Amino acid sequence: MRCVMTYGLYLRADGRLPCYCGAGETVTLGRYVPGEGRDFVEDVFHKGLFAHIREAQACGQTPFPGVCERCSYLEPDAPFDAEERVLRWFHLEPSMHCMLDCEWCQGQRTDTSGLKTMPMELLTEVTDSFARAGYRLEKGNVCGVGEPTLNPHLWEMMRYVKDRLGGDMLISTNGNSPYSDAIVPSGVDKVKIAIDSTRQEQYQRYRKRGSIERVFEFTRRIAEAREQAGVATPKLIWQYIMFNFNDSDEELLELQQRARQMGVDSLRIVYTRCNNYSSKSREAFPRDFDDIDFFQIKDESLLTVEEARERLASADALRAAGELEEAATGYIGLVNDTTKRLLLGVETYADFLDAVYNMERVVQDGTPSLTQEQAHALYAMEVAAYAALADIYTRKGEERQAGRYRAFMQKAGMVKA
Ligand SMILES: C[S@@+](CC[C@H](N)C(=O)[O-])C[C@H]1O[C@@H](n2cnc3c(N)ncnc32)[C@H](O)[C@@H]1O
Ligand code: SF4
Repeated sequence: MRCVMTYGLYLRADGRLPCYCGAGETVTLGRYVPGEGRDFVEDVFHKGLFAHIREAQACGQTPFPGVCERCSYLEPDAPFDAEERVLRWFHLEPSMHCMLDCEWCQGQRTDTSGLKTMPMELLTEVTDSFARAGYRLEKGNVCGVGEPTLNPHLWEMMRYVKDRLGGDMLISTNGNSPYSDAIVPSGVDKVKIAIDSTRQEQYQRYRKRGSIERVFEFTRRIAEAREQAGVATPKLIWQYIMFNFNDSDEELLELQQRARQMGVDSLRIVYTRCNNYSSKSREAFPRDFDDIDFFQIKDESLLTVEEARERLASADALRAAGELEEAATGYIGLVNDTTKRLLLGVETYADFLDAVYNMERVVQDGTPSLTQEQAHALYAMEVAAYAALADIYTRKGEERQAGRYRAFMQKAGMVKA
């Protein structure tokens, strides 16, 4: 058995250390606060739940029974082979802020109540600790639920990690921030820029408040700076999410032509499953660019009604025992997984929208592949989890976050049973 957390780390902007599991934030492995005198590797990464994950696998057991079985990153048949002092991946979230408002952004359903901008000390303490312990990094992935370029120390952070741990660093951005002269010298290897159309009126349908001209400017200036410096990096990747409104041959050819003009190295075409998704097949994609990578979001193993029930009960028990942090983690994981179940259990995206924004209709009508009874049960559990989250954050005195959950419930037409 091989778990992705055996040799990797996800560091969120506020110091939370979630499990990078298929179920999102189902398990939080800890939190690191800079300036407290702890050594990250010795006191966190080699201890507690991180150590538990390695020990469980060494004994042939799943680290978190009931959760890991549904994780799409767990490889049940692969050998357990944690390499000494190699950090295979480091996922970093520099910022939870964003200047855009994309409808299906993960950030809309994530707990962003804590510190939203990663402090430089958090990154330097963690990096220094890995360097002292003799670790080397293989891959860095800079993304998270917000826009990384909104962290004023971003490029300095990239240089810091590269100098101490090495590694192939990829950063994902919406490309709407101003270009910075610090980008090329930061040593970052790849910059992946989200561009879902080359036409403003189309682009802003998903990337609300975004400007395609800013994306062009950001791309063009990196390509120029790279050329002036006589270096080949950062490689520029344009990521294009396929919707039913941006998938005409004409627009796709326009994209490829623009990419060539601007010095883009590769295209990443993403088949999403969110609202207005494209049904154009990969074969029908009109190719006019050498380096294109197609990416399809996978169906993940589905949460059953029984599992959802058990997870709701265990989160309820934690809440009753006053373990609010753990309970909230459980409810968030349940909400994410239930939404996925409803998402994958319906046939069209219009049905999914109904499932999320007008669940009552689905509950009344049933859906093609989810029985009415199942939809009703999952809906009720999702409502209960949201209501519990609103209560927990009120009790924690975090009224803003509680308000977000209540607002979502209202928007989704959720009615407390
Ligand atoms: C939450 S974003 C954060 C990084 C940055 N703000 C951005 O948009 O590129 C993480 C990734 O999710 C992608 N993404 C956003 N909405 C998506 C959707 N509906 N389907 C698939 N990917 C999506 C983004 O393009 C980006 O690559
Ligand atoms: S630009 Fe990225 S982080 Fe911002 S709302 Fe869109 S997907 Fe989310």
